[in-house]
Amino acid sequence: MFANPSSQKYSALAALFAATFILTSCRTPPEALMSAHTRETATPIRKTAITPTIAVIPRPASVAFTGETFTLTADTQIFVEPDSPELLAVGQYLAERLRPATAYPLPMQAATGAPPPGSIYLTTSGSDPTLGEEGYELTVTPQAVILSAPYPAGLFWGIQTLRQLLPPAVESLTPQAGPWTLPAGTIRDWPRFPWRGMMLDVSRHFFGPAEVRRLIDLLALYKINRLHLHLSDDQGWRIEIRSWPNLAFHGGSTQVGGGPGGYYTQEEYADLIAYARSRYIIIVPEIDMPGHTNAALASYPELNCDGVAPPLYTGTEVGFSSLCLEKEVTYRFVDDVVSEIAALTPGPYFHIGGDEAMATPLPQYIAFVERVQHIVQSHGKQMIGWEEIAQASLLSTSIAQVWHGGMGREAVRQGNRVIMSPAFKAYLDMKYTPDTPLGLHWAGYIEVRDAYEWDPATVAEGIGEEHILGVEAPLWTETIQTMADIEWMTFPRLMGYAEIGWSPASGRDWEEYRSRLGRHGSRLEALGVNFYRSPQVPWE
Ligand code: ACM
Repeated sequence: MFANPSSQKYSALAALFAATFILTSCRTPPEALMSAHTRETATPIRKTAITPTIAVIPRPASVAFTGETFTLTADTQIFVEPDSPELLAVGQYLAERLRPATAYPLPMQAATGAPPPGSIYLTTSGSDPTLGEEGYELTVTPQAVILSAPYPAGLFWGIQTLRQLLPPAVESLTPQAGPWTLPAGTIRDWPRFPWRGMMLDVSRHFFGPAEVRRLIDLLALYKINRLHLHLSDDQGWRIEIRSWPNLAFHGGSTQVGGGPGGYYTQEEYADLIAYARSRYIIIVPEIDMPGHTNAALASYPELNCDGVAPPLYTGTEVGFSSLCLEKEVTYRFVDDVVSEIAALTPGPYFHIGGDEAMATPLPQYIAFVERVQHIVQSHGKQMIGWEEIAQASLLSTSIAQVWHGGMGREAVRQGNRVIMSPAFKAYLDMKYTPDTPLGLHWAGYIEVRDAYEWDPATVAEGIGEEHILGVEAPLWTETIQTMADIEWMTFPRLMGYAEIGWSPASGRDWEEYRSRLGRHGSRLEALGVNFYRSPQVPWE
């Protein structure tokens, strides 16, 4: 990505933005576009004024409260039905979230017969199939909490809503005073888009498994279901590849500024995938190529056209490196890397990067993307690439990730689906204001309102709802060194992206959102999140 705001690249890109993105604030998409991704079979979406005490983010599709309450007590039990390992794990997850702050035992078991009054009941049996793969229905009465979904993922997302209906102190890891009341009523909810992602660049600065796990837990609370890991770049190679061990040993040995860097062993990476899976989050691996490859080129001389390995790189310029596309060994390298990562990856995606290949001649670049696309497919994965890949002829399953807009249209013209990450709205590494100590500003300043008030289906000319798989917010880490830095740049903007990806576009309103967001301040505090207290938000 562009790291030097004073460079010529910045002005070129700014011009591109103006030309390709529709530079207006969010407007409601026409009905024709609305229907493409909103479920046609569900109950019609009601425009819901969420009462001031209810602060669920992302805003549920439909909400009706009765004014009564359910209170969690020391006698509350959690039941799941049917008796399956996956549902028991989801029930266990709920119990583990609620036990520390309430100090209640909350025993969890498979239901046999009708659960006793006062219980929480999670079920997939007899649930409304029109809620889809991730939808759920949460019914709270003074006597019981019933969470029902056709699939376990829906139960998991419904649990996030349940957490948010409880007082913020429930997120605390030490016992807190109750009462632990939930508003009674019914929420029927399902996502607008199947892809609601965040990207973390672990190459410019490395972040270890414990940090990634903490991030996964925070993403889950807001129903984010993809974590894209940018695993390689000029400054570092971050995953063990057994057939090319020097990538991690040497290529992973430093980072921006010259720190020690690091990498995930395959075992650590597999554990991260499993952890994310237990939170219904798919990890999307990215190996950026043919540019952004200095760490690989420094690790193996044969990948360079001149056969000479360059030194490791710890600066922040972009666009200077390229794999040698004339050499067969390059394709063996790509095949080996994709093969090893694909074998670790239960998810269907492999991201090949493909951005900013300024050091690669265009005809070679195009041939490379087309060849790599088949390598990815041969290992059973669907290729994703930054929008530049749309200069190549794409397989119908390939996905382009839009970050500046112009080439995204080309992907759409080819009939491919896109993920929307417009830099001037969705890049988490952009500063909030000129005073933000971290981050860059080549795509502009992105305050909390700017991050919220746009719509993926209207932000770029020629790209509409029916072309869009979802939204993703990337965090590039040239200036981001610690977990506290990650949290500061990510929260609260990510909550807005979560709502853009999940909630119906109609009725999304900044004034209503900012008061709801304000009520998450104490929840984020209880979670220990280092978030930016934007003056645009009435924090409570
Ligand atoms: C990018 O920001 N280079 C995708």
